Amino acid sequence: MTTSIVLFGPPGAGKGTQASKISEMTGKPQISTGDMLRIAVSEASDLGAKAQSYMESGILVPDELIIELISNRLKQEDAINGVLFDGFPRTLNQAIALSSIVDISSVISIEVPDEEIIKRIVGRRMDPITKEIYHISFKPAPDEIQGRLIQRKDDNVETVMNRLKTYHQQTSPLSSWYDDQNLLIPIDGNKSIEEVATDISKFLSN
Ligand code: AP5
Repeated sequence: MTTSIVLFGPPGAGKGTQASKISEMTGKPQISTGDMLRIAVSEASDLGAKAQSYMESGILVPDELIIELISNRLKQEDAINGVLFDGFPRTLNQAIALSSIVDISSVISIEVPDEEIIKRIVGRRMDPITKEIYHISFKPAPDEIQGRLIQRKDDNVETVMNRLKTYHQQTSPLSSWYDDQNLLIPIDGNKSIEEVATDISKFLSN
């Protein structure tokens, strides 16, 4: 049976950082709703225009827009053998919609305390060419690309506080929903990037 994996956790937990490693291990393409929405905003598409203000305030984009985005993405050929969802689902409605279209084999939940999250998000930088995610202290970028690094608009303290509040109110309850279905794999995300990757790969190779 073809199954998909959900990568779950608060903003800045390290989902994007670990997703590329998991994709490599499993061969499943990463589907990040956050990345797809940022592309839509940069292209000034209808979806981008609708999503932008929600994203910049740190609140969730309405379920119907997200479910349509995911349903269309899953029609692409590379999704046929299952995918890795990064940052989706984030509400019970999204989780119920997802369970009606794909089979989920596991929900890898990266757990990180709020105070660590703020440090991670405020120090995050991205290379717009390679899309590699860096951190000013925890994963510094090479000197030669420092000049082109960008910081996300929603990576400021005020928006991070809203994103965390949104996460605790609307998204974290999903962990017990998935736990009740025996799908939840808790991973201690408060370790180095390499240690978290090792813990996830141990689970995946079992
Ligand atoms: P999205 O882009 O999904 O943001 P997010 O969930 O808030 O997650 P992030 O991308 O901020 O963090 P991450 O866990 O990927 O961490 P990363 O690996 O970069 O969503 C943005 C917005 O879009 C939302 O607020 C919402 O408005 C909207 N949206 C998206 N999906 C939606 C949905 N399904 N429904 C409704 N709305 C939706 O790591 C962070 C930093 O920490 C990096 O600098 C990294 O280098 C560093 N780091 C990573 N791991 C470690 C480690 N172990 N130790 C030290 N540093 C580390």
